[in-house]
Amino acid sequence: MKVGLVGWRGMVGSVLLDRMREEDDFEGVEPVFFSTSQAGGPAPLGSGTLQDAASIDQLKKLDVIITCQGGDYTKEVHPALRQAGWQGYWIDAASSLRMEKDAVIILDPVNRRVIDEALARGVKDFIGGNCTVSLMLMALGGLFRAGVVEWISSMTYQAASGAGAPNMRELLSQMGVLHGGVKDLLANPQSAILEIDQKVAAALNSETLPKKEFGFPLAGNLLPWIDREVEDGQSREEWKGFAETNKILGTASPIPVDGICVRIGAMRSHSQALTIKLNKDLPIGEIEKLIANDNEWVELVPNTKADSLARLTPAYTSGTLRVPIGRVRKMKMGPQYVSAFTCGDQLLWGAAEPLRRMLRIIKT
Ligand code: HSE
Repeated sequence: MKVGLVGWRGMVGSVLLDRMREEDDFEGVEPVFFSTSQAGGPAPLGSGTLQDAASIDQLKKLDVIITCQGGDYTKEVHPALRQAGWQGYWIDAASSLRMEKDAVIILDPVNRRVIDEALARGVKDFIGGNCTVSLMLMALGGLFRAGVVEWISSMTYQAASGAGAPNMRELLSQMGVLHGGVKDLLANPQSAILEIDQKVAAALNSETLPKKEFGFPLAGNLLPWIDREVEDGQSREEWKGFAETNKILGTASPIPVDGICVRIGAMRSHSQALTIKLNKDLPIGEIEKLIANDNEWVELVPNTKADSLARLTPAYTSGTLRVPIGRVRKMKMGPQYVSAFTCGDQLLWGAAEPLRRMLRIIKT
């Protein structure tokens, strides 16, 4: 099987390549690496050279294309390839094709049935979901599978990586500037905290703070808007919650999902606080069991301070496939209202992992 990889040098692509190597995904596969700028250079694996990612003739020879190159590339190349009669599988991390009628959003631990049905129908476009949506579904798969969710409100705390690699660097640079401005005062235990705070506040609003990527300070701050404005006062990131959740699950009658998406100063793990309205009054023990037994990556974290602080954080999940979910309890609104908090690495389950798993599904 000839598998083309495009955009493997970027952040999501690099995570994908690492995971594919770790899991021996290249076994039984002839990888062909593509580049948008360095065709002819050496490929990262094997003895081949990089092919031109714009060449429809080269791409047409492949059985599968996995791309992390981004939405503009998809928009340009995918229609041209299909028009040229290419019948291979297109596995994509970008959002451009997600909501297309003939595309399936892949998150196999949650929607393997939807994927298998699509393969049987001859569907060829398999697209990774939005990171917050995928991570929420990995955490709450058990409740959706049991059909007990009436609606969900998700309030997110999204890491810098979701905005891109330069944004992660900018977050750290901002942290450095803030710290640098008060380093001497911090070293003196007698210094006044209000003087430190005032200097930090001035730095946050100063012209010298690096903010080319975010446009605003993220360190020592938060940004309550992600992506562009769409409709009804929603951001596009918020819009995806409802649209993608229901497409992933293949729901007959859509389950409302809505909330506010917020960027915070975490590096690569997204978190979300969930309010879940159940369609019946289930005992908390049963809710916990449904959540905990759904897939091998979800971790039900006991609702204690010690467990929550140790295992329900970006620091705990980053670089891992764990999807902890905790703070699970009935809320004051009534017996059908449940709270929960969940975290997960947005570059793994949120981006790269569903892609490599889709290749495995196609291979078998
Ligand atoms: N849109 C997401 C974010 C990242 O900005 O965090 C990828 O799904």
